[in-house]
Amino acid sequence: MTVRLDLNGLLAGTVGAGQGVAPEELEALAPELDQVRRALAEHRAQGGFAFADLPYRRADLHGIARAGLAARDRFDTLVVLGIGGSALGAHALSQALNAPGGLRVVVSDSIDPSALRTLLGELELQRTLFNVVSKSGDTAETMARFLIVRDRLMREFGAVDYKDHIIITTQAQRGSLRQIVNDEGFQSLSVPPDVDGRFSALTAVGLFPAAAAGVDVEELLAGAAMMDERMRAAESPLSDPALALAGAFRVLANARSKHIVVLMTYAEGLAAAGDWFCQLWGESLGKAVDRDGRVVEHGQTAVRARGSADQHSQLQLYLEGPRDKVVLFLRVEDHGEPLDIPAAFQDIEEVGCLGGNSLGALLNGSQHATELALARRGRPSATLILPTINAFTLGQLIYLLEMATVSTGWLAGIDPFGQPAIEEAKEFTFGLLGRPGFESRRAEVEAWIAGKDPRFIL
Ligand code: PA5
Repeated sequence: MTVRLDLNGLLAGTVGAGQGVAPEELEALAPELDQVRRALAEHRAQGGFAFADLPYRRADLHGIARAGLAARDRFDTLVVLGIGGSALGAHALSQALNAPGGLRVVVSDSIDPSALRTLLGELELQRTLFNVVSKSGDTAETMARFLIVRDRLMREFGAVDYKDHIIITTQAQRGSLRQIVNDEGFQSLSVPPDVDGRFSALTAVGLFPAAAAGVDVEELLAGAAMMDERMRAAESPLSDPALALAGAFRVLANARSKHIVVLMTYAEGLAAAGDWFCQLWGESLGKAVDRDGRVVEHGQTAVRARGSADQHSQLQLYLEGPRDKVVLFLRVEDHGEPLDIPAAFQDIEEVGCLGGNSLGALLNGSQHATELALARRGRPSATLILPTINAFTLGQLIYLLEMATVSTGWLAGIDPFGQPAIEEAKEFTFGLLGRPGFESRRAEVEAWIAGKDPRFIL
């Protein structure tokens, strides 16, 4: 049950010297990768990468699993209200792993009023639990929806009983949401203060919704731990899948101008994992300055595509458009109980040839076909292969992609943690909403809007 990385599709021998990575280039990068490996191990030993030790942080696990079990006893549906790292990991896990007997998990990260109105309109509130998730505890999008849902629940169940329908996940010591938990007595779970949102899938942020969905959270962490041990035991940095991926993508970005990573998932259960990856890669690696403060404007745009549907949509661009992309496939070998395609219309070749195959074989065949079509046109790709989708393989996948992201950042000399630039937009929003102390921010937005040239508004 090991997740594997196949780099064949990006080798120079496959896609041409000008487009791919020669094994010698990877070998030449090995000393640098080894330095990254040592630096990361040292930083981790000093407590610098809390997310890397999550597979071994078991203190909260019992409480999370118990809360998940209690939720399954009483409710049918769990609605997660979060955004960014406080929604995408939970969505990735619950979409991939929803187990029989588990709650239906709906992850809501939108403040579109009609979307929330529709969602609230179709829920059976009596059988619904809301998980409000915000590490900081004061993200406007999440808190606004919390207030709307709280009000709705209070009107439905009264000022005391409504609280049974809310469980809050936030930091243990700080933030408005923790203050509300303490003041009002909501059930709550804690987000470790030292783990960034997009690296928090294996904390209560992702684990509680997973547990409520009936997922074996121990298995998830066991998968992540197995990947960690595999990486640490790797004889060379090039046999560590995270470092090898980071090294190959660095050559592709720096020397072959592949500034876009297309994550193409060949299983519907992994589609949300694709969204999670886009945030992880984009928010971690898109940085203005390196760790020494020099301006580098580093980053590689991550885009999600769904196989095989996007073969009929985006693939034309990837095959013939600008040579600025590398495709990272997520492939699943075993899709579970086969769904066979019945034999019929044997005299019509295009349709007749489908009969006798399974739908999973068609899906996996489509992935190999796309990989080869890209290779034939000199377009590089790599493939992460999951034997099947389960908690153990998902834990490996999450850990591998997190470590690949951090290794890529370290290799480029940037800090993959934090998201300093997004604060400004948050401040503008608070200004517009009238938050005290943000008046000048409001004035800036109003001046920007007032200064628009009407001739260019068509
Ligand atoms: O990765 C991150 O840290 C961000 O995407 C956050 O998860 C996001 O901004 C939501 O923040 P919070 O959990 O504080 O509401």
